[in-house]
Amino acid sequence: MARDLTQLELLTELETVAEQNVDRHLSMAKEWHPHDYVPWDEGRNFAALGGQDWDPDQSKLNEVAKAAMVTNLLTEDNLPSYHREIAENFSQDGAWGTWVGRWTAEENRHGIAIRDYLVVTRGVDPVALEQARMIHMTNGFASPTEADAGFLHSVAYVTFQELATRVSHRNTGKVCDDAIADRMLQRIAADENLHMIFYRNMCGAALDLCPDQALDAITLIVENFQMPGAGMPNFRRNGVLMAKHGIYDLRQHLEEVVQPVLKKWDVFGRNDFTPRGEATRERLGNFLEKLSKDVVKFEEQRDRMLAREAAKREKAFATVNG
Ligand SMILES: [Fe+2]
Ligand SMILES: [Fe+2]
Repeated sequence: MARDLTQLELLTELETVAEQNVDRHLSMAKEWHPHDYVPWDEGRNFAALGGQDWDPDQSKLNEVAKAAMVTNLLTEDNLPSYHREIAENFSQDGAWGTWVGRWTAEENRHGIAIRDYLVVTRGVDPVALEQARMIHMTNGFASPTEADAGFLHSVAYVTFQELATRVSHRNTGKVCDDAIADRMLQRIAADENLHMIFYRNMCGAALDLCPDQALDAITLIVENFQMPGAGMPNFRRNGVLMAKHGIYDLRQHLEEVVQPVLKKWDVFGRNDFTPRGEATRERLGNFLEKLSKDVVKFEEQRDRMLAREAAKREKAFATVNG
């Protein structure tokens, strides 16, 4: 039986592909500036500089948009943790190092733009936001499969995660009900898509290089996938709110993130697995089947919950106006 490739062998074997993909990325990436996406004329001083502090009435964002914006921003804020993860697993040498630096710089732009927007428009409480950032960054990010971390797990995880953040940013833009926020989040989502393509290509190349080994990592990641915000204050509450209102829910996870990527890699069509890879593929197939059943269950629950809430609102309205 062929032995698994070591971390160093993987990086060496894939370096040429990394180089090609860094070049591809640089030729596709568009320069943009966070300040162009922020309505500065809405800004004014806070109390420390003689102005007025934040008040909930100042926000034009609904509760869902607030929860989604804060979740997405705190996720972007946690960049040092992700940088550490990627730098450790991809190495800092050659094309790998170039990618790690470039990707980190691009990601930083996302946090800058969203924070400036939220503070200037007074969309959320800046004190609560800062407190949450401190807690979240101090905790850092722990990979859901920490015990097995390594290049393959990392590259599989970020492929799904970049696509997940793309979906989440896009849909957050839609619920903000503000053309400026929507434009900014579309811009960020376009970046996340290019990041996803880089990682998807790298993970695809790994799958060609060592099919069984790569599929092990992919399967483990799909089975244990968690959005990167796990551990941030109110993550569960905000996650539920986002799922309930279609910003990132289980169906989107399955149909817009997991399935398209697996299809691109032709996981269920390829014939280069040994019996070990085939067994893993079967496990992955079973997991996906269970996930599609969970999607239906989740949606039934959600529909019931939304109907109950609507009935409650109607009753309250009737009482007030009756
Ligand atoms: Fe980002
Ligand atoms: Fe990204």
